[in-house]
Amino acid sequence: KKISLTGIKPSGTPHVGNYLGAIKPALKLAETFQAYYFIADYHALTTVTDPDLMHQYVYEIIATWLAMGLDPDEVVFYRQSDIPEIFELTWILSCYTAKGLLNRAHAYKAKVDANREEDRDEDAGVSAGLFNYPVLMASDILMFNTNYVPVGQDQKQHIEIARDIAASFNNNYGQEVLVLPEAYIMDDVATVPGIDGRKMSKSYGNVVPLFAPPKQLRKQIMRIVTNSQQPEEPKDPDADNIYNIYKHFASPEDLARVRQTYLEGGLAYGKMKQELFELLEATFGEARSQYDEYMNDKAELDRIMTRGAEKARAISVPMIEKMRKTVGIR
Ligand code: TYM
Repeated sequence: KKISLTGIKPSGTPHVGNYLGAIKPALKLAETFQAYYFIADYHALTTVTDPDLMHQYVYEIIATWLAMGLDPDEVVFYRQSDIPEIFELTWILSCYTAKGLLNRAHAYKAKVDANREEDRDEDAGVSAGLFNYPVLMASDILMFNTNYVPVGQDQKQHIEIARDIAASFNNNYGQEVLVLPEAYIMDDVATVPGIDGRKMSKSYGNVVPLFAPPKQLRKQIMRIVTNSQQPEEPKDPDADNIYNIYKHFASPEDLARVRQTYLEGGLAYGKMKQELFELLEATFGEARSQYDEYMNDKAELDRIMTRGAEKARAISVPMIEKMRKTVGIR
């Protein structure tokens, strides 16, 4: 069986972009492939500095996957931090990672560019953790002989970096040691926009949360940014932030009807927001009840993660032994 693997970083409350870009395609792939899905908690340490918040976010991501239908008997579902072999592999891989490759990684480069723009030292506010982030991610992926990595567009470069590292390692030790992974990105959800039209992102504060209480969800939907066109004016649905979230969840009939109203005139943004809110409630309401149940039984979540870690280590322990042997350590 081919391997599908992906991770989510517990750096904020899970949102519609995580769901459409990663969780939904990942659960689809789990039907055909052996899946390894995990909580990338040590990746979150580059931004989450409060230990209580870290705990909270980790549980939120675990409960989200389960509420969305992940079956922990089928999927190997674990916390990155429970697999110490990943960190040993990170070091080995870092010795086969060109520093220039990391200089060009988007997250790091964006910080450097912003610093230059503001006339600060170019590495101001950049930790070595942020710089080495892609190597840890390569280790997550290469540890489990991953073939496909279901992710959103923003992670594509990281998977290319993992491929480059694997190729450089194999180039020295033999072509069969590490499997070269491929990103699996669905075109229509590669970059899901947030309530302001930019990429939906925890760091932009523009997310539609998956499991917020209805009142809070509604409030956030009402904040979606629109232009000032009057209801009777014809509008371009594809340029509208409400429509661009709505289209992922509506039935084909509803979508055709709504599209028509945009194009012909007669669409009021306020009403459209209410319709989107109701659609999200209908789509995620049931999953939210399950999510709430999981969040109220953290002991059960811990048990699930402990079992998952055992299954993951059945792979990672022999893999790291193979890696040590390959490089000639011990
Ligand atoms: P993270 O936690 O930022 O995001 C989790 C997943 O959600 C996707 N995503 C989106 N997709 C479409 N539109 C959006 N607006 C959107 N926002 C987020 C992301 O692309 C991602 O697939 N570095 C990773 C976590 C990670 C990982 C890994 C992923 C660590 N190790 C190994 C895959 C394999 C991250 O920070 O994702």
